[in-house]
Amino acid sequence: MSRLLVCPPDYFRIEYEINPWMRRTNTVDGERAYRQWHELMTVLEQDAGATLERMTPVPGLPDLVFTANAGVVLGKRAVPSRFRHPERQREEPYFEAWFREHDYEVIALEKGLYFEGAGDLLGFPDGWFGGYRQRSDIRCYSRLSEIFGREIIPVELIDSRFYHLDTCFCPLSGGELLYYPPAFDRYGQAAIAERVASERRLVVPEAEALKFACNAVCVGKHVVLPAGCPETMALLRDRGYEPHPVPLDEFMKSGGAAKCLTLALD
Ligand code: ARG
Repeated sequence: MSRLLVCPPDYFRIEYEINPWMRRTNTVDGERAYRQWHELMTVLEQDAGATLERMTPVPGLPDLVFTANAGVVLGKRAVPSRFRHPERQREEPYFEAWFREHDYEVIALEKGLYFEGAGDLLGFPDGWFGGYRQRSDIRCYSRLSEIFGREIIPVELIDSRFYHLDTCFCPLSGGELLYYPPAFDRYGQAAIAERVASERRLVVPEAEALKFACNAVCVGKHVVLPAGCPETMALLRDRGYEPHPVPLDEFMKSGGAAKCLTLALD
């Protein structure tokens, strides 16, 4: 079973520019965004069998829809994010309140240490990877490793278009990794290769990486990914996964897709 935290896009728009995808002039079609988000929810619930927990949207917080950045949860413990940009720091109290109201033990990171939640911290049951430089600080990972009792391998993100780890790196339930290697430096690529055997690494082509192919949600053998990534779907089918494409281009205007719109709660 898989529980996911989501937040309806009532106030989703492009009000500032904090990554190379965002252009204030690139207006969001609100109704279309709403339809795309609802289709994503239907696929997650009905095709993938996930359970959804809905947060209440807040006016003036357009990026609250990207719940992957709420924090990271393991068991009953939650570490809420500390955003790099002041525009998103305003979301912190709402995510933190959600964790508290749902009986999580909330563990706060020290002030001034940036960490953007499951957008940057992902992995397999026995080893996690932490993306840093664009958003999260490398220093947060030793602290998070202590809190969660897991090994965390920091990997540097070198391409500003892939500013969160979940834009270029997607661990799958069977131990395979869907990823876009050029988003990492040579050291990061080697660190990944050392942990994930070559036959388990599925490399996404650049054109599809730029369509957020890696920003996918894996629930058992189901993989929900943005539409327009046929080669990635073939790679997944080849390994026995069932891909479910969903059009999410309204959210890509903000630099996010399927995975960014969810937070794994277990
Ligand atoms: N506009 C948001 C930002 O730049 C998009 C966040 C996408 N989230 C993610 N987990 N990659 O912060």
